[in-house]
Amino acid sequence: LAPQDLAGRTVVVTAGGTREPLDPVRFLGNRSSGRQGVEIAVEAARRGARVRLIAASVDASARALAAHPAVEVTDVETTAELAAAVDDATADADVLVMAAAVADFRPRTTAERKIKKGEGAPEVLDLVQNPDILATVAARPRDHLVVVGFAAETGDPDEVLELGRAKARRKGADLLAVNAVGKGRGFGDVDNAVTVLGPDGAAVGAAAGTKHDVARGLWDLIVPRLR
Ligand code: C5P
Repeated sequence: LAPQDLAGRTVVVTAGGTREPLDPVRFLGNRSSGRQGVEIAVEAARRGARVRLIAASVDASARALAAHPAVEVTDVETTAELAAAVDDATADADVLVMAAAVADFRPRTTAERKIKKGEGAPEVLDLVQNPDILATVAARPRDHLVVVGFAAETGDPDEVLELGRAKARRKGADLLAVNAVGKGRGFGDVDNAVTVLGPDGAAVGAAAGTKHDVARGLWDLIVPRLR
């Protein structure tokens, strides 16, 4: 049996990847399966937490893993919907884990009808920047909520860590889990490895193995920081 070190706690986890519609059939998105976020949510439930999982286009096999009586799922598509769901869900929560891959940009406008080729189809996509949900929540006055982010980076291990350190300082989260992605690493049903950094960019721990192992290791680092 898992340790009941999250009993009485309310945990919010975002998983998957946001999609920004171009028209009724097309979107800008990313390769996140939602698997790591779902594993984090279910592990929290096993440890006794009440869990609100905010699912942004989580794929079917990852979603099936979220079936647990203590996990309540809210589906979202866009970054704006994810931001609103995070605000609602964190009002009385103890922890927010932002495992979702959030689109950095969205099309300035969404066409009401399918964009056709040869009908003045756009040669360039006019994009606007999305708000940074993690940085926004982390910067708010909060005496209670512990905020945890993810940073998926590409490059060799030293580069990944250096990018992660800069991001940890920039985002202001209590913890930032940094992992390498790309070329079969990080996405879908594969193993994962994260280095966990504090707000000053210093490493406070690490977790590796299956995405379930990573979820357990991450909670082991979060629990002592609960307020
Ligand atoms: O800046 P980057 O996208 O690499 O940061 C990743 C972390 O920030 C993740 O925890 C992700 O959920 C969060 N994020 C966010 N809002 C954005 C972009 C990323 O909350 N617009």
